[in-house]
Amino acid sequence: MKKHILLLASCLLMICACNGSGDVRTTDDFNFDWLFSLGDDSSWSEAAFDDSQWRELHLPHDWSIEGEFSSKHPAGTGGGALPGGMGWYRKHFTTPEGERVFVEFDGVYLNSTVYVNGRVAGGRPYGYSSFNVEVTPFLNPAGEENVIAVRIDHSKQPSGRWYTGTGIYRNVRLVTTSDARIAYNGVWVTTPEISDEEASVLVRTEIDAANGGNFSVAHTIKDASGKVVAKAEDGKTVTIPSPHRWDIDDPYLYTVETELLSDGKAIDRVTSIFGVRETRWDVDKGFFLNGRSVKLNGACLHHDLGCIGTAMYRRALQRQLEILQAAGFNAIRTSHNIPAPELIELCDEMGLMVLDEAFDKWRGRPGGAGYGPYFDEWNTRDLTDWVKRDRNHPCVIIWSIGNEIGEQSARTEEQRIANEELSRHLADVVRANDPTRPVTCGCNGPDKDNCVYTSGALDVIGLNYRSYAYDSLRVWFPGKPILGTETVSAQNSRGIYYQPSTGLRVAGSNRWADGTPLSEEEMAQLVPNECTAYDNSRAFWDCTTTHEGSWIPIRDRDWVAGGFIWTGFDYLGEPTAYRWPSRSSYFGIVDLAGFPKDPYYMYQSEWTDETMLHLVPHWNWTEGDKVDVWAYYNNADEVELFVNGESLGRAHKTPDCLHAIWPEVTFKPGKLEAVSYKGGKEVTRASVETAGEACGLRLTPDRATIAADGYDLSFVTVEAIDKQGRAVPTSTDMLHFSVKGAGELFGVDNGSACDTLCLKGADKALFSGKALAVIRSEKGKKGAATLTVTSDGLGEANVKIRTK
Ligand code: GAL
Repeated sequence: MKKHILLLASCLLMICACNGSGDVRTTDDFNFDWLFSLGDDSSWSEAAFDDSQWRELHLPHDWSIEGEFSSKHPAGTGGGALPGGMGWYRKHFTTPEGERVFVEFDGVYLNSTVYVNGRVAGGRPYGYSSFNVEVTPFLNPAGEENVIAVRIDHSKQPSGRWYTGTGIYRNVRLVTTSDARIAYNGVWVTTPEISDEEASVLVRTEIDAANGGNFSVAHTIKDASGKVVAKAEDGKTVTIPSPHRWDIDDPYLYTVETELLSDGKAIDRVTSIFGVRETRWDVDKGFFLNGRSVKLNGACLHHDLGCIGTAMYRRALQRQLEILQAAGFNAIRTSHNIPAPELIELCDEMGLMVLDEAFDKWRGRPGGAGYGPYFDEWNTRDLTDWVKRDRNHPCVIIWSIGNEIGEQSARTEEQRIANEELSRHLADVVRANDPTRPVTCGCNGPDKDNCVYTSGALDVIGLNYRSYAYDSLRVWFPGKPILGTETVSAQNSRGIYYQPSTGLRVAGSNRWADGTPLSEEEMAQLVPNECTAYDNSRAFWDCTTTHEGSWIPIRDRDWVAGGFIWTGFDYLGEPTAYRWPSRSSYFGIVDLAGFPKDPYYMYQSEWTDETMLHLVPHWNWTEGDKVDVWAYYNNADEVELFVNGESLGRAHKTPDCLHAIWPEVTFKPGKLEAVSYKGGKEVTRASVETAGEACGLRLTPDRATIAADGYDLSFVTVEAIDKQGRAVPTSTDMLHFSVKGAGELFGVDNGSACDTLCLKGADKALFSGKALAVIRSEKGKKGAATLTVTSDGLGEANVKIRTK
């Protein structure tokens, strides 16, 4: 297939005389009416195979999340203790009208082969790449039935260092076009010059015209209201007056409608989104957006969505991003893989910047079950497709070619040369497809011999953890901006508090970080497989520290462009430092169910202007207990603490300690209240009361009305409450969930990293007083879905979610 990039304005391609007429493209949702079976059999590719007994479902679908947790699954607890294996999807469909037919897959995990009517039409080893399969040559005549079958081989495990999910876990579309068409991800928009008066826009189009033709390309640029602001020829800059910039506070988007014309008639049309924004990386002053210095207050995110698994449900991801944005996060790192296109779209729309990352490791680790064995053959293709997919989006500010790759170090000179060459090759592929953004890599070997650094491949020096090395890197690699690609390995469990909170703990260990063993009293408080929620708990490796300890060195260095904390949300897999039954991580500032842990509020206090005051911990203790009380606050000089109206004095944060603390407060049941003051005047107050015995349940949906489209979700928080309606923070009662009417129960969770009940089941216990149920609407079913939660001790509660 010939592909042509139109670089010149009036370029009319005269390839051969065939006519390129036909209908303008159609793009249809291809997610519904699939059939699914675990297992593997070559006859399953055949159109004639009897699949009447297969399970019906709609995509996106992650089959691993439906399994039971078990330490015996080959993924191990590091992979989330869930099953992988072999599986097939089949779908019967009628040949559509249109000269050419494509199936666009946003991501299939892992090693997919796509068959149409028994013949191989495409596939992809890397489970995070988006890809397009032309099915035209395999289809029966228009109006007749076909079968598309997708085989997935995730039998070798673990295939990643976290939970990967398995299946057609992202969206699929059916696209029909005329014979000549705009190529897949074939429109490239850049804004070479930007001023307040005008912005130049350059649109370049790749045409996919197997049989040639006589074509031209026209672009219509529209503002966010749909008003035409410029018309452009392909490959020729055009200006838009008084451009409205994309910014994190004002994520303004333009669109460009690209038409492929054959003899003046439109034969294909696609719409692309772009933004007008300036970015600059300064060696001394860090990152600039639209001329303003902006620290990258970022979070690393893995791609699972908690109890939904990796199935790409836009609303679930949007919720994650909303929660992070509310704590002042302005950037996301797609650790450590090509994200779903929805992440990029949402960040465009919400004003979040993206460090877009392609790979974890390169050639991989011994055992080679993941992408490693395919890396050499596929890296150029995967990188190219990735950059072409994401490069129009204003939210993407930097590319990352990898994370903590083995090739950073070399034993021999030969190896060093090879590692440096590989680094440069990968960065060059990225730059060849987008010279407008810098390239970085999440490196964890901060020494001057690091092959990735010495290769010169990176525009921005990326460093994971090890903030002690920022200053040396600046000396070793002068002229290169520095970014904390990954910071903080603190570990916390929501709602669990070990006393005392002073001193640095090592999660999962019986010793303090300075080596002192925990006392008997300290040991007695430990809850199996849970860490403390106070921010004095870090992972066992000593290259990292707490949230506060990791933020301060970045805050204090203008020339460190920012940092991406590990991690925004807990994720399935990597339950370091715990063994089974732990099966998900403890690193998040938000738990797997989406409930913030206390360090979340440290960021909110440091990074947002809206007045806040957050008290730690809960106030349900045993009379006489000595409890450390912390407060995170902003817009104030100091905070006064009261127990049942009696003042315990004022405390304040300092540049080195970002919370106020009242150590060893003697617990008395009642009310713990904090009042913040600025210049002696009260700013705000917050309180927490001792709850009585739990006797009921409260259900609070994040959205009480959702779309009846089969995709929309309502996230319902379940809390145990006492007689007065106060949440009981220590409840662990078992709950049973059911949904009736126009919706289905789509997942349950409680945020505990060691709860082994299935996340797709109907039972889940409260953890630290809370649980979550996710309701999914059904396509075309309008009305209401009623969630009922019952518990032996706490009775029953219902909530109605409208679907329209
Ligand atoms: C980092 C790594 C992450 C994760 C994290 C756990 O070194 O890049 O993927 O493994 O450690 O703390």
